[in-house]
Amino acid sequence: MKIFLDTASLKEIREAAALGVVDGITTNPSLLAKEAGDPEQILLEICRTVDGPISAEVVATDAEGMVREGRHWASLHENIVVKCPCIPEGLKATKVLAGEGHRVNMTLIFSPTQALLAAKAGASFVSPFVGRLDDISTPGMELVHDIVQIFDNYSLGCEVLAASLRHPMHVVEAAKAGAHVGTMPVGVFHGLLKHPLTDIGLRRFLDDWEKAKKELAAKAVEG
Ligand code: E4P
Repeated sequence: MKIFLDTASLKEIREAAALGVVDGITTNPSLLAKEAGDPEQILLEICRTVDGPISAEVVATDAEGMVREGRHWASLHENIVVKCPCIPEGLKATKVLAGEGHRVNMTLIFSPTQALLAAKAGASFVSPFVGRLDDISTPGMELVHDIVQIFDNYSLGCEVLAASLRHPMHVVEAAKAGAHVGTMPVGVFHGLLKHPLTDIGLRRFLDDWEKAKKELAAKAVEG
């Protein structure tokens, strides 16, 4: 499963990308609004930092406006994927943008039928929001399972991007469901690697090594 970070923070992105396992970035208007500076420059810098799909979302709600904004985002850098909301105007815009060769990530997906229509319109990614469904007592991961199964049944070349992942177990479950991508906040990303037994084990190895070196040195002096 590809790992995307769900953030527009360059500091967070640089630190996490340095680990060498980040495949792409998803942003949205809320995430970009949290950052100081020109959103266009931020997106460009993200594209220079991570060589993979970088989602930039349109804010127009009519197809014409979405296409205009989408073309503009796509013109900024080849890594940009245009994010369109899953509404009727978003489907129309996706059809046009995909027809022009632009990649589209259809966002705010909350049902398998929305995902099916997004794929038929030519989206390259669909983003089911797992955490937001969990928030309203609806099992979000079942949606990921359903979409993966439907796309597999018809060999649809659209990737399932499990979004709104809130903790490491969401990432595990998304991978088990066969999602092609999981996008997550950096806190969740770092949580994927952390294990207290790894830290304890490493400490013990290093301590034992130091002890053995001292014993060897002492023997050399004696002998
Ligand atoms: C995905 O592209 C969205 O930006 C994101 O995953 C939403 O996550 P949230 O529900 O935690 O805000």
